[in-house]
Amino acid sequence: MYDKLAKIALEMRSKAYAPYSHFTVGVALLARSGEVYEGTNIENASFGATICAERVAISRAIIEGENTFEAIAIAGAKEGEEVLKPCYPCGICVQTLSEFFDADTKVILVEGDSYTVRNFSEIAPATFGKEDL
Ligand code: THU
Repeated sequence: MYDKLAKIALEMRSKAYAPYSHFTVGVALLARSGEVYEGTNIENASFGATICAERVAISRAIIEGENTFEAIAIAGAKEGEEVLKPCYPCGICVQTLSEFFDADTKVILVEGDSYTVRNFSEIAPATFGKEDL
């Protein structure tokens, strides 16, 4: 399954709308239901309005009624270039994902033809959450 998610993440890079950074990101988010939600980055001329691939995917999943997740695969690199190193989720995405992810939700970081698998808690050891309110 991780192989499949990594492959989808790589494929999704081709759907990116990234005319400003020319950095294309694809993600594949696996919900506990077994459904996979795809995402890619969507930039904006007002740069701050850009949406990262991770938040596109989780938004698509949430509106389908999903709220628990097994894994997310992320693949990002300069447009037209291979993914040679891990693309970590940005701080805003970590915070967004933390609302729905468990400590052991897997983050699959695509790297070349392979990937590394990390627990979400390794990427985000501590985040602000509902228990802090
Ligand atoms: N980006 C993502 O979509 N996800 C990440 O994990 C890192 C960054 C996007 C935002 C922007 O469109 C481009 O990559 C460069 O920052």
